[in-house]
Amino acid sequence: MSNRPILITGATGQLGMALVAQAKVPYCAVGRPAFDFDKPETIAACFADANPWLVVNAAAWTAVDAAEQNQDAAFRANRDGPEILAGLCREAGIPLIHVSTDYVFDGDKGSPYVETDPVAPLGVYGASKEAGERVVLQSGAQAMVLRTAWVFSARGKNFARTMINASRKTNALRVVGDQRGTPTAAEDLAAAILAIATRIDGQGWQPEFQGIFHATNAGDTTWHGFAETIFDIAAAQGETHPTVTAITTADWPTPVKRPADSRLDGGKLARRFGIRLPDWREATQRVITAMLAGDRAR
Ligand SMILES: NC(=O)c1ccc[n+]([C@@H]2O[C@H](COP(=O)([O-])OP(=O)(O)OC[C@H]3O[C@@H](n4cnc5c(N)ncnc54)[C@H](OP(=O)(O)O)[C@@H]3O)[C@@H](O)[C@H]2O)c1
Repeated sequence: MSNRPILITGATGQLGMALVAQAKVPYCAVGRPAFDFDKPETIAACFADANPWLVVNAAAWTAVDAAEQNQDAAFRANRDGPEILAGLCREAGIPLIHVSTDYVFDGDKGSPYVETDPVAPLGVYGASKEAGERVVLQSGAQAMVLRTAWVFSARGKNFARTMINASRKTNALRVVGDQRGTPTAAEDLAAAILAIATRIDGQGWQPEFQGIFHATNAGDTTWHGFAETIFDIAAAQGETHPTVTAITTADWPTPVKRPADSRLDGGKLARRFGIRLPDWREATQRVITAMLAGDRAR
């Protein structure tokens, strides 16, 4: 095992926190203001300070609707910054694991997306992430892009947190029931990334590691199904269970259209790495239990 660290960017985000919580190897976790894609000079400075053997880029502009009004900042964080990071990795001859999104797709395929399916982002966020994938993969660095979806965790801003907070304020909620995808626990994605890191460390970088991999929890649901599951779990732990009415996307207009069906096929990750993330329901049970325990401890 290398005694140089893994450089983890986006340390304050859901995935960054989960990586830090689980890392059993030396790491250097960086976040703003020390590491800021809006200040490109901070990227090289953090890289030089850490002297990593691997970089995991968990930093990103993730506000889907706000990206529409902040196109430049979204592209700085999701394309330009990762391009600089990839260039540093190439020069140092070390690998980069970069995280991307199901929102690179338009959601019209009607079955789970594989890595070779054509991308067609519906908004600025998806377009900026798609551009980030391209620059990272074309950088000449040893680069792996992991696309994930619907990330949630016990800490941080996410749909599950929003649902629990809402259930404490109201007993009737309306949630979109015609968008299909896979909730993915940040801790399960972090475990997968750390397992990949262990493999790279053990075997060295292999050509078949290069490219895009889909990494979500197993199974799928809708936002409405996810909400019902969250409330079933929370109610068993003393929270009130609001009534949840399924509505259509048309009933809940947002600045950016979301893909109607962004299920990702995880077969390639399973074949190349033997990694299968657990079912999203099991993950939800774990995350909601931790979230409520955290709330009680506060
Ligand atoms: N969240 C989802 O539902 C979702 C779905 C699909 C894919 N993904 C992808 O998964 C990855 C991890 O997402 P997440 O859910 O952990 O995101 P998150 O909780 O929103 O965290 C994002 C992290 O990026 C940092 N960041 C934002 N703008 C930055 C900038 N200009 N310079 C440097 N750091 C910046 C944030 O720092 P501050 O704390 O200072 O803001 C934070 O640490 C991202 O690549 C995201 O695109 C997420």
